[in-house]
Amino acid sequence: MEDIKILVIDDEKNILESIKMVLTYENYKVETASSGLDGIDLFKVLNPDIVLLDVKMPGFNGIEVLKNLKELNQFSEVIMISGHSGIEEAVEAAKLGAFDFLEKPIARDKLILTVRNAAEKINLLKENFTLKTISESKYQLVGESPPMLELRQTVAKVAKTNSTILITGESGTGKELIARQIYMFSSRNKKKFVQVNCAAIPDELIESELFGHEKGSFTGAYEKKIGKFDNAHNGTIFLDEVGDLSLKAQAKVLRVLEEGEIQRVGSAEIRKIDVRVIAATNKDLKEEIKKSTFREDLYFRLNVVPVHSPPLRARREDIPYLVEHFVNYFSEENNFRKKKFSPRVIELFKQYDWKGNVRELRNLVERLLIMSPASVVREHDLPANMRVEDKKAAFSFVDIKLWKEFKHKSEKLFLEEKLKQFNFNIARTAREIQLPRSNLYKKIEASGIIIPGSSETDEESLHSDG
Ligand SMILES: Nc1ncnc2c1ncn2[C@@H]1O[C@H](COP(=O)(O)OP(=O)(O)OP(=O)(O)O)[C@@H](O)[C@H]1O
Ligand SMILES: [Mg+2]
Repeated sequence: MEDIKILVIDDEKNILESIKMVLTYENYKVETASSGLDGIDLFKVLNPDIVLLDVKMPGFNGIEVLKNLKELNQFSEVIMISGHSGIEEAVEAAKLGAFDFLEKPIARDKLILTVRNAAEKINLLKENFTLKTISESKYQLVGESPPMLELRQTVAKVAKTNSTILITGESGTGKELIARQIYMFSSRNKKKFVQVNCAAIPDELIESELFGHEKGSFTGAYEKKIGKFDNAHNGTIFLDEVGDLSLKAQAKVLRVLEEGEIQRVGSAEIRKIDVRVIAATNKDLKEEIKKSTFREDLYFRLNVVPVHSPPLRARREDIPYLVEHFVNYFSEENNFRKKKFSPRVIELFKQYDWKGNVRELRNLVERLLIMSPASVVREHDLPANMRVEDKKAAFSFVDIKLWKEFKHKSEKLFLEEKLKQFNFNIARTAREIQLPRSNLYKKIEASGIIIPGSSETDEESLHSDG
């Protein structure tokens, strides 16, 4: 069972304390708040699974708090605590989706049982939800390589928070997918996900696109316009290609992040807004800061939680899974008969450079499915620059006279291919081909294999293998 977080909201100190004691003893994580308002604030931060909520409190009463909590997160279960005269409130709370009731004075056993029931329901829901979103989603993140596993863990961790996130990585590595995954696993997943491609909107329109404008605020503003931030209120906004924002728009985005405030173009009114910001860019923002095209303060505000999307060449072992995923996807979508890719083709894919990353792979798979006539895609179906048949021919036995020479050449060819496959990580390659690392070093040196960016690669491999 996953850890269950509980929030207790009651204005009576001794009740808070005794509930906390009982439930902490039962291994739940318990926080308390002594007023409705504090409770709502704490709820936003904690995102608890279960809330124990007193009906009668001065100020914001339990029913009002319940309404708020249900809006914030429908997955939390709320157990109401009431005196025994509160029948009417009980009925209303039930209508609003309260899970159960506890009557004061609260019996210990009844408390534990009710909380346990709620916890079971939550764990079931969570499981179903995760399974469903993962299997049904066209936004599935495919890959089992170590960098992808790490990425998935990061996504799961940051999704639960409300933090601003900056996703970096080369073009076509899946930044948009990552943003959507974070959203899907967040407590805002029932609210809107509003995507803005900052690079696609002309500089002079970006402000009004993001923040809206009043009628007549500039030439062409014939009607009042609602901005993307308005649309995303209570939900999530995805600022894609954030590195392309104009400096003026950057200043306004900074204000949202710092103050939670927006202002329509041509309007004096300042309004509060609640959005979670996820941003992505394939630019090196530090470079942009040096060039004064990106604000440093905005960079720090965005980069609260950095998430990096690794290039495909750093996780070549994901390629077979990705190919299978795309074959399934395109075949289902177009009612194609499913084709296979020969092991040789997969091998060549693993060696190719993929400057366009997963997008390039996806496009090529789609093209091959359409263009290649047979049920198996083979090497001769590939674009010329990917085929190695010709290169292989150069390694012809006829030209080799001595055993020693053959051994030397074939060894070099083998090592070159394996090193490439494992991204020139020497420690890893040595492990995979089960050759002591020092031997591999010697062989690399002796056969004159060139390791790209060698000083860096070596150091990294030394560390990783201890
Ligand atoms: N891990 C993955 N699993 C499955 N599909 C992926 C994965 N990574 C990327 N893709 C697919 O590759 C294509 C490109 O991904 P995406 O648009 O997310 O890249 P990006 O990093 O946002 O690129 P750009 O910087 O050019 O906007 C999409 O069709 C996406 O579905
Ligand atoms: Mg993108």
